[in-house]
Amino acid sequence: MKTSFLLAASTATILDFAAANALPNPQPYPPPHSNEAYSPPFYPSPWMDPNAPGWEQAYAQAKEFVSGLTLLEKVNLTTGVGWMGEKCVGNVGTVPRLGLRSLCMQDGPLGLRFNRYNSAFATGLTAAASWSRHLWVDRGTALGSEAKNKGVDVLLGPVAGPLGRNPNGGRNVEGFGNDPYLAGVALADTVTGIQNAGTVACAKHFLLNEQEHFRQVGEANGYGYPIKEALSSNVDDKTIHEVYGWPFQDAVKAGVGSIMCSYNQVNNSYACQNSKLLNGLLKEEYGFQGFVMSDWQAQHAGVSTAAAGLDMTMPGDTLFNTGASYFGSNLTLAVLNGTVPEWRIDDMVMRIMASFFKVGKSINNLVDTNFDSWTDGEFGYVQAAVNENWEKVNYGVDVRADHANHIREAGAKGTVILKNNGILPLNKPKFLTVIGEDAGSNPAGPNGCGDRGCDDGTLAMEWGSGTTNFPYLVTPDTAIQNQALQDGSRYESILNNYATSAIQSLVSQPEAIAIVFANSDSGEGYLHPDGNEGDRKNITLWKNGDDLIKTVAANNAKTIVVVHSTGPVILKDYAVHPNISAIVWAGTPGQESGNSLVDILYGKQSPGRTPFTWGPSLESYGVQVMTTPNNGNNAPQDDFTEGAFIDYRYFDKVAPGKPRSSDKAPTYEFGFGLSWSTFKFSNLQIQKNNAGPLNPTTGKTIAAPALGTFSKNLKDYGFPKNIRRIKEFIYPYLSSTSSGQAASGDSHYGQTAKQFLPAGATDGSPQPRSPSSGEPGGNRQLYDVIYTITATITNTGKVMDDAVPQLYLSHGGPNEPVRVLRGFDRIERIAPGQSVTFKADLTRRDISNWDTKTQQWVVTKFPKTVYVGSSSRDLPLSARLP
Ligand code: NOJ
Repeated sequence: MKTSFLLAASTATILDFAAANALPNPQPYPPPHSNEAYSPPFYPSPWMDPNAPGWEQAYAQAKEFVSGLTLLEKVNLTTGVGWMGEKCVGNVGTVPRLGLRSLCMQDGPLGLRFNRYNSAFATGLTAAASWSRHLWVDRGTALGSEAKNKGVDVLLGPVAGPLGRNPNGGRNVEGFGNDPYLAGVALADTVTGIQNAGTVACAKHFLLNEQEHFRQVGEANGYGYPIKEALSSNVDDKTIHEVYGWPFQDAVKAGVGSIMCSYNQVNNSYACQNSKLLNGLLKEEYGFQGFVMSDWQAQHAGVSTAAAGLDMTMPGDTLFNTGASYFGSNLTLAVLNGTVPEWRIDDMVMRIMASFFKVGKSINNLVDTNFDSWTDGEFGYVQAAVNENWEKVNYGVDVRADHANHIREAGAKGTVILKNNGILPLNKPKFLTVIGEDAGSNPAGPNGCGDRGCDDGTLAMEWGSGTTNFPYLVTPDTAIQNQALQDGSRYESILNNYATSAIQSLVSQPEAIAIVFANSDSGEGYLHPDGNEGDRKNITLWKNGDDLIKTVAANNAKTIVVVHSTGPVILKDYAVHPNISAIVWAGTPGQESGNSLVDILYGKQSPGRTPFTWGPSLESYGVQVMTTPNNGNNAPQDDFTEGAFIDYRYFDKVAPGKPRSSDKAPTYEFGFGLSWSTFKFSNLQIQKNNAGPLNPTTGKTIAAPALGTFSKNLKDYGFPKNIRRIKEFIYPYLSSTSSGQAASGDSHYGQTAKQFLPAGATDGSPQPRSPSSGEPGGNRQLYDVIYTITATITNTGKVMDDAVPQLYLSHGGPNEPVRVLRGFDRIERIAPGQSVTFKADLTRRDISNWDTKTQQWVVTKFPKTVYVGSSSRDLPLSARLP
């Protein structure tokens, strides 16, 4: 008994605890400054609001269910059963008495990981490049329906963290590009789709997991750095609000059911026990009503994580397969002895179950989990970690429906044409050559490398947990050849990047068009293909790709470069190379890769626009991944001193208006992309709406409800005699019931629960609301539409085409970016000569800046200008906001 209590107690958040009594709420984050960066405390953890719009019914259903649970059942729902302790990458305990099977959490953002008969969708980054809201909702809906039909309850995606601060960040590709506005819309639309399909979405990773290096201590030790704590992203309050938190606020507004806290520290407090982030920003200010789950092994404390706002631990064990948990028995005990207040465990479970009901699930109507993550075979051990319970685990349920059509379309519409001297679209070319390994298949098969941890054959997704098994992979070689055969073209491909003389003699033949393929891969930090620890070592092309392109272009004046990549690569020389007639960024498009590409190369679909800047060098971005620890063996300190100035905001600051050829200006700017027609922008109109001033939220919350009663008799919490204990499995039961002392809530080694936790952490009385809070998404008036902007777009070319108008806003003021994205649309199929109207609503939040003093969004006095056009640097229309 004593040991258990000590485990809970010894895991206090030292930083939060130390700062606890000094500072009242709300406190802004201080400016980033290495070891001095700290995270102010925010307690108590906000409890659910029964009247939160969109959650009312779910709240009522959850309340009814949770009120009938025992303490052990409640703890079971908050605690994973341990790594490989069930069929999914994460499962919580069951409530057999009420017929609730183990809830299943499964990766990931582009399809179901460790699965079969599922689809492999485009990555978030390629999806973003379509700038198409209806495609984002469709993608989410398809993802959510595949999850539901496999018996997955929580899909671990979509992603907006990393946002993409570092151009070489390994997992940027999982998210929707590094502009918070674009990422926020895409994140929210994906959440909407997933949840409409009956699956809980999990927006991740909250927050500031901007690089793979040093995100986890064990991993970093593995590649030679004996650090003792994970990296701290040190970021100021304004930047958190205006850049990194922004997309998550949109997801909360869209009703997201769950949010995953990340591995890293934020201002020297681990993200999964950072009370300012979870309690303050997410639950109080953003009004998040769902549950926070930890990333896998990202929980580093027990009671203090619960107090700081963590609701569910994943996969449940302290480290994989230790058989011990910070929650489980420790949480049971902590509630019994009063360290964790009863209302807090109730709120944890309310949040989990309300999310469950919110997406339309019901206890008695759940699809059984009909697959197993740990074997491809029909039979397997349910507890694969310890070879227990052999049974049929894979039922081969095909959940793909007609999603291939969406994947092909989205892959095409997310392909970006960066350069085109008129060679595209191809039209029955006489002789087509395709060069490069990236056009072909992996000799080991599309799923030949576990979690796609290699770069063999064509690149259609990244590596890591954000992957799935391809049901098939249409390579560019196959798809282009199919088209060539239909057209009667002559077709030859060479897929060996090093077959230089064969390539030279092929592409130099008369009338040859050469499509040369190269790629650049990245992914999650536990895999390191070619020495890339998740993050990319550089932003050049892999496998001799740059030499390959140069060889082809030196021998062929009709060279088309196709790049598959997880982010920018250096295209500077190719942009001006006279023999390179076109450059196409085909992203990471998923299973229909080749077909999507053919649809663009042959002009059957309209392409996308780049969701990030293509800089002339890695250094040109101003920031990059930190690859050497800078704080001895203590937590590496990553100071985000650039604030909001990432990607185009940085380029616009250091090289405003500079031409492409400049060393500092982008080769291709954010939002850029060529298409099949030309568009004229005219007639910018601004309508000011009468929204009135913003009223800061005032008043107090209700008191924290405690739901149901529970026995205080330790004898009721022992390991039940009728259950066979499985090794390493995490249970809620107490290991000993011999002592009543720890349950008394009295002093233990001179320390009471009150002293142990930061001030206010156990206070369940009504709490003051913060001024920017209110509903899911924050103060409702943040979303008042203050300006409605319209512009006319006319197709001045010869073919039907999609336009992607973009609206940028200059907030004014000496320290603000030149301009930021605040509106866009993809208007499809505009006929030659046809004019359409682009309309964008500017909300109060859109035109505001975060004021750290008042802790509110404010419209500053500085004059504001809107710009409308076709990229962040091609903005023919502009006007002052009245
Ligand atoms: C760690 C990754 O960071 C996260 O994205 C993923 O969902 C979990 N592992 C589970 O696989």
